[in-house]
Amino acid sequence: MRKLTRVGLGRENIKIMIINGPNLNRLGSREPEIYGSITYDTLFSELKNRAEALAIKLEIRQSNHEGDLIDWIHEAGDTFDGILINPAAYTHTSIALLDAMKCTCIPVIEVHLSNIHSRESFRAHSVTAAGAVGIIAGFGTMSYYLALEAMLRILRE
Ligand code: DQA
Repeated sequence: MRKLTRVGLGRENIKIMIINGPNLNRLGSREPEIYGSITYDTLFSELKNRAEALAIKLEIRQSNHEGDLIDWIHEAGDTFDGILINPAAYTHTSIALLDAMKCTCIPVIEVHLSNIHSRESFRAHSVTAAGAVGIIAGFGTMSYYLALEAMLRILRE
């Protein structure tokens, strides 16, 4: 519903929530050969700068607890225009997250730093992807920038 009422409003009114799942707070030191060496704080402060330059408001959250991610998806549906979510390991297991993504009335884009299809076989299936408009994976930190751009295009359509 909120999405419909927002159509036609300028870019400066857009509010996007970014939700990051377990272990992403360890970026920088966590398996740098896969996830890169940029820290969580640096990645998201730079992304926030980019969004500010576009006059978009970003709310960036991270939790290691599934229920937090679900609560935030519900909350975002009431007051935000779109969600970028990296469910991390819950991507491959969480029907509860899938259900939350499916029942929110705003568009959701699933983001992954790594190419989940070129890694262990258990990562190749995303349980949550069916609740997303689309997935962006494998571009490292650029995945978030591409997802932000995609969300802006969706909201402008
Ligand atoms: C990840 C991929 C997942 O398989 C993994 O469990 C993560 C990070 C990614 O961004 O590449 O924690 O979502």
